[in-house]
Amino acid sequence: MKNLFDLTGKNAMVVGGAGGLGKLVAQAFAEAGAGVCIASRTEEKLKAACEDLKALTGKEFKYYVMDAGKEEMVEAVAKQANEDFGHIDILVNSQGVNKKFPALEFPMDIFDSVMHDDVASILMTCKHFGRYMKENGYGKIVNVSSVRGKIATKGPGNAAYCAAKGAVDMLTKQLASELGPFGITVNAFGPDIMKTPMMTKVFEMRAAEAGITVDEYLKNQGAGLPMRRLSDPEDCVGTALFLAAPASDFMTGNIIYPDGGRTCIG
Ligand SMILES: NC(=O)c1ccc[n+]([C@@H]2O[C@H](COP(=O)([O-])OP(=O)(O)OC[C@H]3O[C@@H](n4cnc5c(N)ncnc54)[C@H](OP(=O)(O)O)[C@@H]3O)[C@@H](O)[C@H]2O)c1
Repeated sequence: MKNLFDLTGKNAMVVGGAGGLGKLVAQAFAEAGAGVCIASRTEEKLKAACEDLKALTGKEFKYYVMDAGKEEMVEAVAKQANEDFGHIDILVNSQGVNKKFPALEFPMDIFDSVMHDDVASILMTCKHFGRYMKENGYGKIVNVSSVRGKIATKGPGNAAYCAAKGAVDMLTKQLASELGPFGITVNAFGPDIMKTPMMTKVFEMRAAEAGITVDEYLKNQGAGLPMRRLSDPEDCVGTALFLAAPASDFMTGNIIYPDGGRTCIG
């Protein structure tokens, strides 16, 4: 039987690969044998992430400065990365933003920008990296969605984020339908709240509102989940590896939830 989780000979692009989740995914893929590159908008963060990843794995990582919301940049980076590596077989979309306002006060320009950064950017990377995967007859696309694509939050704030992640789920399914005939699988996974830079300010604000420390806030938030704690980004890495590896070669158009049980209790 083929080694189900071996990525030897494969190359991966992790968009958002300097971020809290993306960096761990990049590390895991390299440790599974893949050549890995990362991309996002801020060069210093990319450079620092590549240095950290090299120190952790002993492997070289390449980075590309790319705003995934700008199609010319995505097209150019897809071309460059495929030239540099020979073939990019795995694409992870771990970019994303969340801007929170009560629905009745949501500024429409900000709503549009979240939809662009979180949804349109995924179509653009899938389109341009997908064209090369089609030529190669093989590809694995892994989109990072959220439990918020499936269940809303009780309090206000997530109108744009929930709408965006719901759209990511349906975009994943439609891409799976269209790209499957070319040998490309497209799946997504939906984390619950995780302690990454994206959430730091939110945790600080919510803890201050409740008059407790961030640690106490996080403990309280996790207490009601079946697994009795909030997620760490590490909890999602196995799922990302599964969706990128031969183990999932006949799975496409699925959204799976490494969420400690959040979605099973709604
Ligand atoms: N943290 C959570 O609680 C949580 C829960 C569920 C789902 N998620 C999802 O998990 C994914 C990763 O988030 P994270 O928690 O790791 O957040 P993070 O640490 O803020 O990482 C997000 C990364 O995306 C990059 N990015 C944002 N917009 C981009 C764009 N237009 N083009 C290219 N790169 C862009 C950012 O880098 P630059 O700003 O330098 O470009 C950053 O490196 C996101 O899709 C997020 O929605 C997170």
